[in-house]
Amino acid sequence: MNKYVHGYSAYEANRLHAQADSLADLLHSDSVWDEGSIILEAGCGIGAQTKIIAPKNRKSRFFAIDIASESLKQAKKVAEAKNIDNVVFQEADIFQLPFEDEHFDHIFLSYLLEHIPNPIRALNKLKRVLKKNGNITVIEGDHGSAYFHPDSELANKAIQCQVKLQKKNGGDANIGRKLYPLLEEAKFGKITVSARQVYVDDSNPDLVEGFTRNTFTAMINGISEEAISMKLMNSKEFEQGVRDL
Ligand SMILES: C[S@@+](CC[C@H](N)C(=O)[O-])C[C@H]1O[C@@H](n2cnc3c(N)ncnc32)[C@H](O)[C@@H]1O
Repeated sequence: MNKYVHGYSAYEANRLHAQADSLADLLHSDSVWDEGSIILEAGCGIGAQTKIIAPKNRKSRFFAIDIASESLKQAKKVAEAKNIDNVVFQEADIFQLPFEDEHFDHIFLSYLLEHIPNPIRALNKLKRVLKKNGNITVIEGDHGSAYFHPDSELANKAIQCQVKLQKKNGGDANIGRKLYPLLEEAKFGKITVSARQVYVDDSNPDLVEGFTRNTFTAMINGISEEAISMKLMNSKEFEQGVRDL
């Protein structure tokens, strides 16, 4: 696997949970699939999304896979603590899926393709295990489309450091805007893109904390050492950019 830009630290685990929890309503109000479905969650990580989607689909069975065994251990603990009993966690690489052709009714993935050097290849591998009449839900971010007030040149520069580092690691931080063409190129049938805008102001302190601080700003802050050591920005400016965010 290419180096995963955000890493597997406790800091990143907290951030993934903050991301999943703060955006749960926005992203998962419609994450309900046919009862009795067999569902693949690809790149489940520490189970931050699993803990939300599995209880919404109690009568379906999930196989949640990830390439990182440590993350899977955490995911299992999260599921156990929440009495989630319709998920099997399994270590597997999406490029070598240990499932037969057309095995799944549904495939779910979030924030995975943005880290994969060849997302079309990944989608084709996933397509092999999806039933012909099955469907796939792909959730990805688009980190370069952040706008804020008051604007800050240093905050924008810090965000661009993240975009550059992710690119250097073979990923694409701005993949959200490319989902339609990617799915089209991978020859999925009817494609519907539903852009979910995260809008935050002081009238919603939970989102200020959960999303602006603990998800987005934490993501940029998380690459500070690498950005500074690669001389993309100096430390003073980077810190100011994070403060501005
Ligand atoms: C940003 S995390 C997202 C985790 C989770 N989907 C979420 O939304 O919280 C990306 C995950 O994809 C996993 N991953 C990356 N490449 C993979 C591959 N080839 N096969 C399976 N998992 C992979 C990483 O180990 C990591 O856990």
